[in-house]
Amino acid sequence: MPSLKQIVEPIRFESDQLQLIDQLKLPSDVNWVPINTVEKGADAIRDMVVRGAPAIGVTAAYSYALAFKSEDPSDARLKYVRDTLLNTRPTAVNLAWAIDRMESKVTAYLKSDGMFYQYLLDEAKLIHEEDRQMNRKIGAHALNLIEKGSRALTHCNAGSLATGGYGTATGVLYSAWEADLLEHVWVDETRPFLQGARLTAFELDRAGLNYTLICDNMAASIMARKEIDFVVVGSDRIVSNGDVANKIGTYALAVMCHFHGIPFYVAAPSSTLDFSLENGSQIPIEERRRTELGEFNGRSIAINQQKIFNPGFDVTPANLVSAIITEQGIHRFPYTKSLESLK
Ligand code: MRU
Repeated sequence: MPSLKQIVEPIRFESDQLQLIDQLKLPSDVNWVPINTVEKGADAIRDMVVRGAPAIGVTAAYSYALAFKSEDPSDARLKYVRDTLLNTRPTAVNLAWAIDRMESKVTAYLKSDGMFYQYLLDEAKLIHEEDRQMNRKIGAHALNLIEKGSRALTHCNAGSLATGGYGTATGVLYSAWEADLLEHVWVDETRPFLQGARLTAFELDRAGLNYTLICDNMAASIMARKEIDFVVVGSDRIVSNGDVANKIGTYALAVMCHFHGIPFYVAAPSSTLDFSLENGSQIPIEERRRTELGEFNGRSIAINQQKIFNPGFDVTPANLVSAIITEQGIHRFPYTKSLESLK
């Protein structure tokens, strides 16, 4: 049976510090960045030193705990910490989910007599470990969908680097690889921030999977040649009706899959579900710096940097999603009903 060579984990808590792999430097350098304040944690999320919805949530939880290492939990401090973390990136709901969960611990603490910082840190470590475990379960459930000899395509990086470890979409690929079901992975470059080229290819290389990097605009022709059996992606937010926000370009892939009759799967933990929203049109979509598109290798490639539109995410309508794989199992359309058990 094939095995995984190495799974890169992007987040660790050591020597009383949060440490993050600087994902801006990958794949050429593997540098660890120490984080010891909530402000530094927020900067790391905003600047995309750490990115990917579940990894953002885990980082926010540790940063939340660090905010109370030597500060009392006054109302003003609690509000400051919440706002500082929340005002970083708008689309991934795992961020608000993690902050809410840490805040619920504050209320519970008032009834305990432990050390406040340690109490919060334990919760952050639990969130981290639970995320790893959810990803393993997602991978295990996905095996029911994948046939031997399958060739997959993935977009962006929904890997170990985007989570507490193992990955959601990439976790599906890892478990299929280990079960000897997966033959090959096409990795979308993922314009304009290149998470596929810089991060997913790096991860799959380290893990020892058989993969090939392509530009996003090559996917349709490879589908037409019948060299893709399924597409699997992660998500930043899935709402009540099953509409899925994920990296820009995901919607195009789902449309192409529909046209070619290829299953389009979304893998995500329950922390990515947002039942407060009814449909995808309500999801806030992050607009990112124009230079991500207008510059290449530090050089301008656009005549007018102002005439650029750069949304970081798009929304795939639920009816284009063949299945949503969570830690609880495989959910099918209509999602309003099949996601109910996760509320
Ligand atoms: O802008 P990014 O790199 O944070 O976007 C990441 C994605 O879109 C991922 O696919 C998503 O967060 C799922 S990660 C398991």
